[in-house]
Amino acid sequence: MFESLSAAQGDTLLALIAAFRADPRPNKIDVGVGVYRDEQGRTPVMAAVKDAEARLLASQDSKTYLGLVGSADFNAAMVNLVLQGDAGALRERVRAVQTPGGCGALRSLLDLVALSRPGATVWVSDPSWINHRPLVEAARLQMRSYPYFDPATGRVRFDEMMDSLSTAGPDDVVLLHGCCHNPTGADLDEAQWAALTDLAAARGFVPLIDLAYQGLGRGIEADAFGVRHMAARVGEMLVAVSCSKNFALYRDRVGCAMVFGDNAGVLSIAFDRMLGLIRGNYSMPPDHGAAVVAMILADASLSAVWNAELRSMRERLQGLRQTLAERFRTRTGGDSFDFIARQFGMFSLLGLTAAQVGRLRDEHAIYMPGDSRTNIAGLSGSEIDTFVNAVLAVRSSN
Ligand code: LMR
Repeated sequence: MFESLSAAQGDTLLALIAAFRADPRPNKIDVGVGVYRDEQGRTPVMAAVKDAEARLLASQDSKTYLGLVGSADFNAAMVNLVLQGDAGALRERVRAVQTPGGCGALRSLLDLVALSRPGATVWVSDPSWINHRPLVEAARLQMRSYPYFDPATGRVRFDEMMDSLSTAGPDDVVLLHGCCHNPTGADLDEAQWAALTDLAAARGFVPLIDLAYQGLGRGIEADAFGVRHMAARVGEMLVAVSCSKNFALYRDRVGCAMVFGDNAGVLSIAFDRMLGLIRGNYSMPPDHGAAVVAMILADASLSAVWNAELRSMRERLQGLRQTLAERFRTRTGGDSFDFIARQFGMFSLLGLTAAQVGRLRDEHAIYMPGDSRTNIAGLSGSEIDTFVNAVLAVRSSN
């Protein structure tokens, strides 16, 4: 049977992790995969998570099934976290299900789209996260790109994006990054979210917002502005949330899929059909990480600890961005890397060619994907000069 298959393409980000691990050079630097690191280069379990895990271990008396939606407490907490002060007003218009990570949420939502509109088009930003295309294709949907990023300015090509999306219609889905755009770090501002919301309402396309970095950009509330603004103004909308980064629960696979609708009967049927698709896929989500998140968000003291930890991660990222931009400015005498300080989240594109990225790896033991996406959080303060010198060395030579 399997001789009919051609060789797998493989995921270049996952291959990069393996290549970095295998590199014996002691001073190697990993700015590849999107994992937050502290100044010592570690990705620690957050203190709030450790505390909640200890409480869970002491109090949990059963591991029996919870059902298709997972933890109802977790789902309600996620709705509150994302919608903040608007949660009360929007509660009747949203249904949420716990999923295995943000990818589980994206895939379940895309499967629901495919069930409703087989072969529908999903518009994806150019560029976008490397795994968006495989997820869209796995759901047997069509993918189309819309212009998003201008490498010359480091900003969003908003007018071109709007022109392109003005041809999308009610059978289309538009995939947006809620904050901390991956891979560019260039986010929509509030006025742009408002204009895009008006376009979605006028054209009738369904926004699908991937919210994987809430709290790592401008702040917990500000990072979900786009979701809240759209949720209050468009008829139908989909949101995929990940707790991998903001709770550092990467391997525990914690996410949430939200379906918004303005017709209660249609929303209820759509949500139940999505649960049916989930039953035929992984059946039920893993519990542990979601139970930890639910416990943290329900407990004022744990929430305060988590908020403070997340704030310090965000501030470290913002500080690294400032320092990196300043060092580039000092070394080049120009402003061509100032965009790094203006952007948000873990990533920026440095504008290097694939050959230059190869030289960074071979000659300087610095690992990043071929598009030169740099995980700013992968750098420690003491590595910044080495990093800047290496980038400028490969940039000047070809
Ligand atoms: C990334 O973009 O590096 C992360 O989201 C990890 C992944 O799964 O690709």
